[in-house]
Amino acid sequence: MKPAEIWLICITLAALSLFALLIFSSLVRITPPMPPAAVAGSKLWREYGCMECHSLLSSGGYSALDLTKIISQRTEAELRQFFAQPPPMPPHSRRTHVGLTAEESEKMLAFLRYVNKIDTRNWPPPPLVEEKRSKERQNR
Ligand code: HEC
Repeated sequence: MKPAEIWLICITLAALSLFALLIFSSLVRITPPMPPAAVAGSKLWREYGCMECHSLLSSGGYSALDLTKIISQRTEAELRQFFAQPPPMPPHSRRTHVGLTAEESEKMLAFLRYVNKIDTRNWPPPPLVEEKRSKERQNR
């Protein structure tokens, strides 16, 4: 066999294996499958129109904080309390969040837990309010 033919075979094999590797890596799931409770939570998210004000993965409203990583930012006990007895909403403080039943609250938490697991490479950046609050907490 001529050296040129050997080269040709080598390059073809290398190209084929690179191609196979690319196909394989694109098939690997980036996000884990969604548990049924999280699916139920996502339905509530839509039914109650949470996205009118909040966003997840940048999809939704921008008048309130992005909740993609809220599970890492609050304890689940705090969130349960928040959903059970929603405080009045700033700035006008007359309207409150919709209250969720205990069951709905668990579904919503399952959904938010699922969203929290998605690797967003540190997105969203912490809102300025959040930075200010955590500094205040540290100074206490
Ligand atoms: C009309 C706009 C609006 C809608 C609709 C809305 N929110 Fe909010 N939400 C806000 C605002 C404003 C805040 C910030 C409240 C604060 O800082 O006290 C907030 C805060 C939150 C927080 C963070 C609480 C914390 O500890 O800081 C969570 C969690 C939350 N909302 C969940 C939801 C869910 C779930 C829904 C749907 C059932 C929803 N929101 C619907 C406006 C809204």
